[in-house]
Amino acid sequence: MPDKKTAFATAIFMILALAASIHAQESEIVKLPDPQITGGRPLMECLKARQSNRNFAPDKLSPQVLSNLLWAAFGINRPDSGKRTAPSAVNWQDIDIYVSTSDGLFLYLAKEHALKNILEEDIRGATGTQEFVKSVPLNLVYVSDYRKLARVSDEDKRLYSGAHTGFISQNVYLFSASEGLATVVRGLVDREAMAKTMKLRPDQRITFAQSVGYPKK
Ligand SMILES: Cc1cc2nc3c(=O)[nH]c(=O)nc-3n(C[C@H](O)[C@H](O)[C@H](O)COP(=O)(O)O)c2cc1C
Repeated sequence: MPDKKTAFATAIFMILALAASIHAQESEIVKLPDPQITGGRPLMECLKARQSNRNFAPDKLSPQVLSNLLWAAFGINRPDSGKRTAPSAVNWQDIDIYVSTSDGLFLYLAKEHALKNILEEDIRGATGTQEFVKSVPLNLVYVSDYRKLARVSDEDKRLYSGAHTGFISQNVYLFSASEGLATVVRGLVDREAMAKTMKLRPDQRITFAQSVGYPKK
């Protein structure tokens, strides 16, 4: 049996360790600026301009543009219900958006409208098999959380996660058209290798990736 002094010291150590770990977890989350959800180019003009563009300038997106982009992609547009800018069957909301930049890999947290740091490394080159992905400022990786689709067959998991990604991706296309950004959604990805690099769980499935940046002049 440890004496009283040792037990007290152990308890203090554990409290300090817990506090340090809570602090570390909090500091990994960076709040994005509030999204600007008014204005933009008229919808019909965005639809007219929507296109895939694979020629990117190296310029980074500002935190405000990134905030607006992620909100448009799959942010919460009805805070009362927590529902989002893209639909999902049964409101499953299985798609997580991972954000790969030169600063690392981040997870978009819609509720907090924040980015959680997942990896410090620049893994942009691993987010696709095409040359431009290494240097494009932003690669979004769409990942379905299959735990949220637990009730459906494997075939339907693929069907629903693919469909859900499509709605989000089109939001990104339309936002890009409004903002004068270049973007392309990508199926040419090595899902197995990417999942390893991203340290995903076995019940997470990469659907597609999407590159975004300013168009090369
Ligand atoms: C599901 C899906 C996967 C795609 N995969 C790729 C890809 O891996 N690489 C790429 O350069 N473009 C990819 N594209 C973009 C298409 O090539 C593009 O949408 C098509 O050529 C039509 O051009 P548009 O988007 O300008 O209308 C993909 C598009 C979709 C919808």
